[in-house]
Amino acid sequence: MNAPDTPTDTAPGIGQNATDRSRKLVEVKNLKLYFPVYGGLLRRHVGDVKAVDDVSFDIYEGETLGIVGESGCGKSTCGRAVLRLYELTEGSVRIAGEDIATLSPEKLRRKRPSMQMVFQDPQASLNPRMTVASIIGEPLDEHTDWSRARKLERIYELMDAVGLNRDYANRYPHAFSGGQRQRIGIARALALNPRFIVCDEPIAALDVSIQAQVVNLLEELQEQFGLTYMFISHDLSMVRHIADRVAVMYLGKIVELAPVSMLYESPLHPYTEALLSAVPEADPFTETHKERVVLKGDVPSPSNPPKGCNFCTRCPKVMEICRQFEPPVREHRPGQFAACHLYEETRTAGTSGVTRSEHNETSVQQGEDA
Ligand SMILES: Nc1ncnc2c1ncn2[C@@H]1O[C@H](COP(=O)(O)OP(=O)(O)OP(=O)(O)O)[C@@H](O)[C@H]1O
Ligand SMILES: [Mg+2]
Repeated sequence: MNAPDTPTDTAPGIGQNATDRSRKLVEVKNLKLYFPVYGGLLRRHVGDVKAVDDVSFDIYEGETLGIVGESGCGKSTCGRAVLRLYELTEGSVRIAGEDIATLSPEKLRRKRPSMQMVFQDPQASLNPRMTVASIIGEPLDEHTDWSRARKLERIYELMDAVGLNRDYANRYPHAFSGGQRQRIGIARALALNPRFIVCDEPIAALDVSIQAQVVNLLEELQEQFGLTYMFISHDLSMVRHIADRVAVMYLGKIVELAPVSMLYESPLHPYTEALLSAVPEADPFTETHKERVVLKGDVPSPSNPPKGCNFCTRCPKVMEICRQFEPPVREHRPGQFAACHLYEETRTAGTSGVTRSEHNETSVQQGEDA
């Protein structure tokens, strides 16, 4: 087996921080991921579940982009599509300048070490019949031709990095607590010195007391190895803590994307407002007196999204235009993007000083470049 062209020899290692928050590492453009639905006796293609429907965003080197939204809105599918664990329906995903959507299977295999995933359920994602050393070392077996001794040295190094005792190397996953199992999953993801990691609800299956430990570990590792994260979670408080910018998804689309302070302190989209109003406050007075936005009805089916804005069936501020036309994603404040007709109206009325005709439709990337 050939030695990899990216892993440990060339990628930043322990103590080598390659963070550059002004450089794009991941560029996603017009990404669509539809799951075909087959029906009838002949199993004909009768429709699609539009799990991810035309999303565009960038992730900068060394930053954490949080992805939030209700269950079923397409967060995991988006994360998997970005790593090309699914074949894309449409669009492009460039990682370190290379469009992974068009890579041949062999080139994709060689690219894999630089992009990894940490899964939600450490219990389910670890093979119960493999020891910790063999789980962490599996990517090394797959992608390097290192000697046993060198692999073991790397396994110990990784166990140290994630705070696992080296003496546990020959134990099996069942002998560990949930938090320790997630540390094993993180060590495995780090084995080949990735630059980009998609963390899909990495703390959701853990006890609350352990969640903060794992999040702190992820932050320390990011600092140490110069990692870039896409952090998927429905826990808005945790996302506020760990993320630099946050994208809010609703029914396969990004409805708002902004730096964390702007999104939490002055959200634009009514859906973001509703999500944030459901987050419990630490201060009992604020908690009792704050206004909650309770959304009516269920999330529509992603195989039959509503006409116009996807959120129009539940939006407390819905207008007639919302049922007719899909709102474009625009940068309404510097760095804060939203897809909502409310602000289109403001623009047209001239209150923001920018009319619709003056301001061309923009993608999240174009606005960030500006
Ligand atoms: N393999 C699949 N085949 C068909 N439909 C799928 C598949 N995976 C996901 N879906 C559908 O795609 C939509 C988005 O699912 P996804 O798992 O990405 O949502 P999510 O935001 O991660 O939800 P959760 O918070 O519950 O994890 C859902 O309607 C789901 O039923
Ligand atoms: Mg999910």
